[in-house]
Amino acid sequence: MKSAFSPTAPISQRDLFAGRTEQMIALIDAVDEAGQHIVLFGERGVGKTSLAAVTSNMLGGSALSVRVNCQNGDTFSTVWKRAFQEISITSQVDSAGFGSNPRQTVQSILVALDLPDELSPDHVRATLTLLARDRAVVVFFDEFDRMQDGAVHGQFADAIKTLSDQGVRATIVIVGVADNVSDLVSEHASVERALAQINMPRMSVGELSLIVTRGLETTEMTIDPSALSRITKLSQGLPHYTHLLAQQAALSAVSEGRDNVEPDDVRGAVVRATERTQESIASLYYSSTYSAREKNIYKEVLLACALAPADDRGFFAATAVRETLSKLLNRKVEIPQFAGHLNAFAGDRGPVLRKFGAQRKFRYRFINPLLQPYVVMRGLEDELIPASMLDE
Ligand SMILES: Nc1ncnc2c1ncn2[C@@H]1O[C@H](COP(=O)(O)OP(=O)(O)OP(=O)(O)O)[C@@H](O)[C@H]1O
Ligand SMILES: [Mg+2]
Repeated sequence: MKSAFSPTAPISQRDLFAGRTEQMIALIDAVDEAGQHIVLFGERGVGKTSLAAVTSNMLGGSALSVRVNCQNGDTFSTVWKRAFQEISITSQVDSAGFGSNPRQTVQSILVALDLPDELSPDHVRATLTLLARDRAVVVFFDEFDRMQDGAVHGQFADAIKTLSDQGVRATIVIVGVADNVSDLVSEHASVERALAQINMPRMSVGELSLIVTRGLETTEMTIDPSALSRITKLSQGLPHYTHLLAQQAALSAVSEGRDNVEPDDVRGAVVRATERTQESIASLYYSSTYSAREKNIYKEVLLACALAPADDRGFFAATAVRETLSKLLNRKVEIPQFAGHLNAFAGDRGPVLRKFGAQRKFRYRFINPLLQPYVVMRGLEDELIPASMLDE
């Protein structure tokens, strides 16, 4: 069961990877196209790293493909040095003297080319040009949003521009958490034409279902359609929860000697899934809903936010919260009764929500999308919503 699901680690093997066909084709097409570089962006936890890893492995057969994780404190030079560190070349050194075998040395390209300590966009271009003579080169920079260095965006834009202008067979793939390209690469305008933009939306119900059925197949298990739809509904497009809930539900079925997962297994899985959710999410929930006053509705308002109909980018309005909250509390609620709660969630409670827009047209969104399914699962656990809601 352990290897059938992967709740926390990104996936790098093709067989556990579900869906994302459109994004993968876009990625491979852009790699194939001369002069194109790529920005892959989306919300936290939607599967960006997994797509990069699986695609990188697939490309590995025909291209030289390297992945680098960016960190806070990195600069243009440090991330490229890390990329080049991963690339080694073998050179034959003929030993003097008859009959002695030629020696082979394996060195990282950094050492082999005797690159300087501080790499500029021009060093990067020259090195990639050299490497790309033999075969195409693809370099992924994941978690690009973590880099705080002010110069890094301009330097990446410079490198992309010269590589593209000179038709070097090397592709830079920038991956990170963002709503749009300009949030991730601030200087993108100067290289607009050279940058293919790939947006990773949340996963569809079909894709999430595939994660469950594929994982279960590897252990020769099956699942009731209603149990499957509970899992995909609770996941809200975020594959982490799909893996976690499917894994826990399958374990529950096995512990009762069944090889079919039933709706009640999912109910039990919710409790164990919340216990296994990252501590950071759990403590965010606690600190944002805690109150010393017994009669408070912080949990209910946050739950109404998590259940409120949102647009495809996760934004919802106070009117949507009003409807959902009225249902949860079984009485008609007006916006002024919870407007203060929303402000607190966007302020000193967490903050867990971000508030956008102008007066009377405010929109809200969960800052960390992974909190949202957790809030719903806690709501089920604490019986703030009936389990039947999951089957509606
Ligand atoms: N296509 C997929 N099929 C199956 N599981 C997936 C898929 N994509 C992602 N996952 C699973 O979802 C979880 C999150 O994936 P991943 O780490 O790739 O997301 P991410 O967008 O890189 O997250 P972050 O924004 O935190 O970096 C992991 O547990 C991973 O196994
Ligand atoms: Mg990632």
